[in-house]
Formats: sequence, structure tokens, C-alpha cells
Amino acid sequence: MSCEFDTRAFRRALGNFATGVTVVTAAAPDGRKVGVTANSFNSVSLDPPLVLWSIDKRSSSHEVFEQASHFAVNILAADQIDLSNNFARPREDRFAEVEFEPGEGGAPVFADCSARFHCEKYQQLDGGDHWIMIGRVVQFDDFGRSPLLYHQGGYSRVLPHTQVG
Ligand SMILES: Cc1cc2nc3c(=O)[nH]c(=O)nc-3n(C[C@H](O)[C@H](O)[C@H](O)COP(=O)(O)O)c2cc1C
Repeated sequence: MSCEFDTRAFRRALGNFATGVTVVTAAAPDGRKVGVTANSFNSVSLDPPLVLWSIDKRSSSHEVFEQASHFAVNILAADQIDLSNNFARPREDRFAEVEFEPGEGGAPVFADCSARFHCEKYQQLDGGDHWIMIGRVVQFDDFGRSPLLYHQGGYSRVLPHTQVG
């Protein structure tokens, strides 16, 4: 079924919802690593601890996410725009010039993030032109660094509101 309204206008309207920026990573059993910049991340459930994000069905990284037992969600800090761009653009090897260490299931995690969630794959749902990936958080790191934001197609940062409550 095709869209009944203008897709660009739809994207622009969705862009009013400001989000954080993540790089979601995974490693296949044969060691192949993938990482994708994603702002579709969200929390789902506290008990059990579930989170979700969605990946474009055309993504070349999806095969590895499907084979991997785990994925890691790296919540980027305000000074990690280069990392965001690195995992949003086509590259021969996105991990070539990036420092990382293996997390649960070998999924790469980065230093200096705001937070990191190590997830066991829980469920994959059909979400139209995306796959909705749900993970069960098995471990997390909270570094509390000020986050990178994404709003109306551009990067932004947190500016606390002066109005309280
Ligand atoms: C801020 C930002 C948020 C993005 N969010 C998503 C997302 O949630 N899901 C997705 O599939 N792609 C998202 N993308 C696009 C992917 O990062 C981009 O298509 C990536 O290069 C996919 O690579 P691959 O197909 O080689 O795996 C986002 C890009 C940016 C810059």
C-alpha cells in the first residue's frame, strides 16, 4: 500500500520529535561487525528490561544483526558527531579508525558515550519498510555525559528550560 500523503512532508513533521542519537552495533558468529547510526531507539519495558530500535529493510547491515545473538546501543554524547557521521555514511570499514571494545556477544561498544546498553536479541517485528528490533538489556553503563540530539534533520544539544515544573 503506498503513502497517501507527501513522504517528505511526513518526514518533516516527524522531525519535530527531537531524539537522541545512537550507534547500534553487532557482531556475527564469524566476527563480521556492523554499526548503524539510529535515532529510532526507545525504551519499551522496565520489567523485563526491553528497548527497541528500527532498521531499514534495505540496510546492508541487517544480515549481521539477524545472525548476531546480541546488539549494543551506544547513546552518543554531544561531542560525538564524527562517530555519528561515520556510522551513517557508506565506508569500506566503519570500524577502521574508531576505538572500540567488544561488549556482550562481541557487539562493539565505544568509550566516552552518554550510556551503553548491552542487549540480548528478544524479538524482531515487521515494521513496514523497517524491521523493529527489540532487545533485552543484560547490562548497561551510565556515564551521564550530555547527549547529542537530532531535530529537524540536524544535530542539536540539550539546553535546559528556564521554566521549572
Ligand atoms: C541521525 C540519524 C539517525 C538515523 N536513524 C536511523 C534508524 O533509526 N534506522 C536506520 O535504519 N537508519 C537510520 N539512519 C541511517 C543509517 O545510519 C544509514 O543509512 C546507514 O548508513 C545504514 O548503513 P548500512 O545500510 O550500510 O547498514 C540514521 C542516520 C542519521 C544521520
